[in-house]
Amino acid sequence: MKGQLFINGEWTGDYIETMDVFDPATGEKVGSIPKAGEKETKLAIDAAHDAFKDWSLLPAQDRASYLMKWHDLILENKDEIAEILTKEMGKPLAEAKGEIAYSASFIAWYAEEAKRIYGRTIPASAPNKRIQIMKQPVGVVASITPWNFPAAMIARKMAPALAAGCTFVAKPAELTPFTAIKLFELCEEAGFPKGVVNLVMGDAPSIGRVMTTSDKVRKLTFTGSTEVGKLLIQQSANKVHNLSLELGGHAPMIVCDDADLDLAVEGVIASKFRNAGQTCVCGNRIYVQEGILESFMKKLEVKVKGLKVGNGLEEGVDIGPLIEKKSYEKVQRHVEDAVAKGANVVIGGNGVANNDSYFFHPTILTNVTDDMVVMQEETFGPVAPIQTFKTDSEVVAKANDTRFGLAAYFFTENYSRGTKIAEGLEYGIVGWNDGVPAVAQAPFGGMKESGMGREGGMEGIEAFLETKFLSISLK
Ligand code: SIN
Repeated sequence: MKGQLFINGEWTGDYIETMDVFDPATGEKVGSIPKAGEKETKLAIDAAHDAFKDWSLLPAQDRASYLMKWHDLILENKDEIAEILTKEMGKPLAEAKGEIAYSASFIAWYAEEAKRIYGRTIPASAPNKRIQIMKQPVGVVASITPWNFPAAMIARKMAPALAAGCTFVAKPAELTPFTAIKLFELCEEAGFPKGVVNLVMGDAPSIGRVMTTSDKVRKLTFTGSTEVGKLLIQQSANKVHNLSLELGGHAPMIVCDDADLDLAVEGVIASKFRNAGQTCVCGNRIYVQEGILESFMKKLEVKVKGLKVGNGLEEGVDIGPLIEKKSYEKVQRHVEDAVAKGANVVIGGNGVANNDSYFFHPTILTNVTDDMVVMQEETFGPVAPIQTFKTDSEVVAKANDTRFGLAAYFFTENYSRGTKIAEGLEYGIVGWNDGVPAVAQAPFGGMKESGMGREGGMEGIEAFLETKFLSISLK
C-alpha cells in the first residue's frame, strides 16, 4: 500500500520522503506513507481555515447529510477497513469489525446532534434588555489520535467537530495510518467540500508543533499518553488553545463478595484482554474481596486459558500482537518487577518475540503488592494483577490512590453498596457490572491526569462549540 496526505480535497505528498508501516503480527511491511512536516501541516490548516466559513454557515441538516453519507460508506466498506486495521494494528478481525461499527455509531449520533445545537434566551433584569446565548463552532480543529483505535478515535473527534460546523485536520498515528487513509477516501466519496477534512501524518513532533502554535487552529483534540498530553498543554499555552485531552488510565476493577462471579469474570476478560490490553480504559489492577478469591480465580483461569494468541487475521484469535517492541519490553518489565517482588504467575508470564513481531501471553498474577510497578502504572498489555481487599472503604481508597482517573469498574449485586462505591470513585467513567461501558451517546473522558473534556454524548459536541452571550438593549 502507498498512502498519501489529503489536503484541500487533493491526495498529495508524493514529493516527500517516506516512512514504512509494518504488520505487528508478522513484522512484514504493509506499506509506506509520506513523512509530512511543517509545510504540509500549514497547508492543511490553511485549507481548513479557508473552508470554515462556508461549512459553518451550512444548515445543520446539510452537514448531517454529509456525515450520514460518510457513515453509510463506512458500513458498506466495513470488512475492507477492518482488514486494513488488523493488518496495521494487530487486533483480531472481529474486534476490528466491532471498532468500525463503533466508529460509525459516533458519526450517526453526531449527524443527529448537529440538528440540536440549541442556544437559549434568558429573562433580562431590565425591561428594555434581552439576553440571548448562542452556540457557534470553535473554528479549525486539529486532532492527534493514537494507534490502538485507528478508526474510532478519529470518528469520535471528527464527527462532532464537523457536526458543530468546524473544519478538521487529522493526524493519525504513524504506526496505523492506512485505516485513516481509507476513512478519508470515503470522506472524499461522501463529497465533503474541499478543505473541510484534511489528513496529515509523518514527523509527529513537527506536525504537533504547528498544530499547537498556529493562529488558525482554535481547538486541539488529542488522545494518547499523559506525557504527550502535558507537552501539548505546554506548547499550546502561548495561544491559549482550547484543548480536549483523553490521556492515560490505570483502571481498578473491584469484585465484591456479593458479585455475580460469571458476570465479573466476563467483565474482567472483556476489559482486561480486549485489544491485548492496549486500551486506556482497560482494567489494570484487579481487587477481589477476601472470601471469594478462590471461586473467582477458578472461573477466571478457565476463561484466560481459553484465550487464543495469534495473528488477528486468523480465525478464532482473541489476543493479537503488541504494537511494537517497546510495548513488549514494558509488559515484560512489569511482569519481571512483580515476580522479583514476590508475585506468583498463575498463567502466562512471558511472550514470544520473533521477526519483529511481539506477542505476550495473557497473564494472571497473584500475591501482588502495592509497591509493584504493575499496580502503579498503566501496563498496556494482557496482564491481570490480582490483589484481595477486606472493606469497601479500603478498596475505594486504593482505587483512588493514583494520579489517573479515567475508568474504574466494580461488580456487586447490592444496589446501596454499588451506589456508594460509584459515588466514591474519582473516575470519569465507571462501569458497574459492566466491563465495556463506552458508547456514542455517553461522555467519555477522565479526571486528574487522565485528561480534560469529554467525547461522546452531548458533551462531545459541546467541546467544539463556543458560547456567545448577546445582550440587546432596545430603544
Ligand atoms: C481508548 O482506549 O482510548 C478508547 C477505548 C474505548 O473507546 O473503548
